[in-house]
Amino acid sequence: MKKALLPVILFLIGFKTSAQDKNLTIIPAPAKITVEKGFYHLTKNTPVSFIGFKQSPITLKDFAATALLLKGVNATGKQTLNGGLKVVLDPAMQIPDEGYRMSVNAGGIKIISNTEKGLFYGLQTLLQLIPDEGDAIPCTEIEDYPRYKYRGLHLDVGRHLFPVSFIKQYIDLLAQYKLNTFHWHLTEDQGWRIEIKKYPKLTSIGGFRDQTLIGKLKVKPEIYDSTRYGGFYTQKEVREVVAYATSKYVTVIPEIEMPGHSLAALAAYPQLACGDNPGPFKSGQIWGVYKDVYCAGKEETFRFLEDVLDEVMSLFPSKYIHIGGDECPKDRWKTCPYCQKRIKDLKLKDEHELQSYFIQRMEKYVNSKGKQIIGWDEILEGGLAKNAVVMSWRGVKGGIAAAQQDHDVIMTPGAFLYLDHTESKSTEEPITNGNYLPLSKMYSYDPTPAELTQTQQKRVIGVQANAWSEYMASPDKVLYMLLPRLFALSEIAWTAPEKKDWINFSESRVPAHLGWLDRKNMMYHVPEPIGAKDTTIKAGSYLLDYKGPVKGAKIYYTINGYFPYQTDYLYEKPVTITVPPNQERIIKSVVITPSGKRSSTVTVHLVNKPESNSNN
Ligand code: ACM
Ligand code: ZN
Repeated sequence: MKKALLPVILFLIGFKTSAQDKNLTIIPAPAKITVEKGFYHLTKNTPVSFIGFKQSPITLKDFAATALLLKGVNATGKQTLNGGLKVVLDPAMQIPDEGYRMSVNAGGIKIISNTEKGLFYGLQTLLQLIPDEGDAIPCTEIEDYPRYKYRGLHLDVGRHLFPVSFIKQYIDLLAQYKLNTFHWHLTEDQGWRIEIKKYPKLTSIGGFRDQTLIGKLKVKPEIYDSTRYGGFYTQKEVREVVAYATSKYVTVIPEIEMPGHSLAALAAYPQLACGDNPGPFKSGQIWGVYKDVYCAGKEETFRFLEDVLDEVMSLFPSKYIHIGGDECPKDRWKTCPYCQKRIKDLKLKDEHELQSYFIQRMEKYVNSKGKQIIGWDEILEGGLAKNAVVMSWRGVKGGIAAAQQDHDVIMTPGAFLYLDHTESKSTEEPITNGNYLPLSKMYSYDPTPAELTQTQQKRVIGVQANAWSEYMASPDKVLYMLLPRLFALSEIAWTAPEKKDWINFSESRVPAHLGWLDRKNMMYHVPEPIGAKDTTIKAGSYLLDYKGPVKGAKIYYTINGYFPYQTDYLYEKPVTITVPPNQERIIKSVVITPSGKRSSTVTVHLVNKPESNSNN
């Protein structure tokens, strides 16, 4: 009997292991991966060679040396014929852009690509394969390349700003997860954050606000912190960030908002608003949309914006410049003699066409400097500028319309990709704007709309998640909102849909990556126990069947309604909770990680009462 069962058990164990090992611990999941038997031992004495380069790849070598050293591997760059880690540039190799191949066998590791960027991504994959303990890297063959060429992450530094050191950490995270674009949202109603030498008041006045809302928007009475807030990035710091990003193969796209979201600029230069002698204005103290915007009738507005963009374009080598275009109320334009004269002179139909004129005029300027604009999907209204790339944020309709008009599109619909939405509905969560976006929903998103033709689908050049910082006043809050959802963004942006696998992602790879973050004591959102859900159940018993969402973390629970601590029941395996007739139990569960972080509590209300009773 025992003998007969053994092969079955081995088969089942083997099956389970291979299911978990499917993508090893790699995020984003590679295009093709086969996991083979055996390991290669990467030690601190493993020789590392860079082969096929015309010039020494300083950036890549520096990155490899630093990153490997952090993992305990002393990459000396010594050339060897056999064994070790080989990083090989082969311009003749056939692989889609940004792709690489990696082979790990008992004799060594080889990463090969036709570009340095591909090798960089290969090294990122290797770093994810180096275990926390020991040095054994599983033997594997990987061929990998991205689904989209634009893989972006945005950060709003207008509502709250963050130190350069944090911007660099953010760029590191992007690069680790194979994103290639950092969209830096630099100007807002509540603060102008980039030094412009020709207009110093943009930062000395527009860079500051007198106080900040501390409650939720629209909750009356509004309450404020009574504290002046502000700051900005000098051009020197901007150059430093751009150079840093370049060393991580990340492009930085600056956003200078127009015509709306410009109150801080108007506080500095009120003459750029509508009418005669407009203002005075103050930088915004609450969130939302302000009615005071740049005047579209005054030539001075365009001279100002062209000057600003001249300085911006000299700082950012990016092909794209984002000029905003979203949420511009037309109230002031409707009553402004200058705007109305412009409408009349140009025979425009209405204020939407005036907005279109505004964007198209700025686009021509940007194009004349050899660059292209990106705008939020409102730039479709009143006619799209000629070469504009559209960022679809109000759902996917704008993106679909733009692709149908042969424009490039970046998908970033709020319901799927806005990081200011809460990850858990629990009242224990910190303040957010109240919208709900769990990891599973973000992971489920496919940026390429099925309703487009194949040719139109090619216009969807990529995808991006946005971190609006109204409710992110500290770097740690940004990390809390970003992680682990960054992992979902990474996989949506890089991995072909047929290779995505929610169970493997959420139950195997995400816990491994969160375990690393925890070891580094980084801030992140601790997910609730896998399988747990706030619910009321009418039954005499309930099976707690949970999994840990963070490697190394523990799940604790109570059955008496008390808030669970490490001193309560430790969840070790599925356990049945029973309730005698006519009684109820409140089961509360929590995840507590090795570094002491907690998830929100999940409550199961178990009621064993006849239906008639429970209705009373
Ligand atoms: C946006 O979220 N207003 C682009
Ligand atoms: Zn005007």
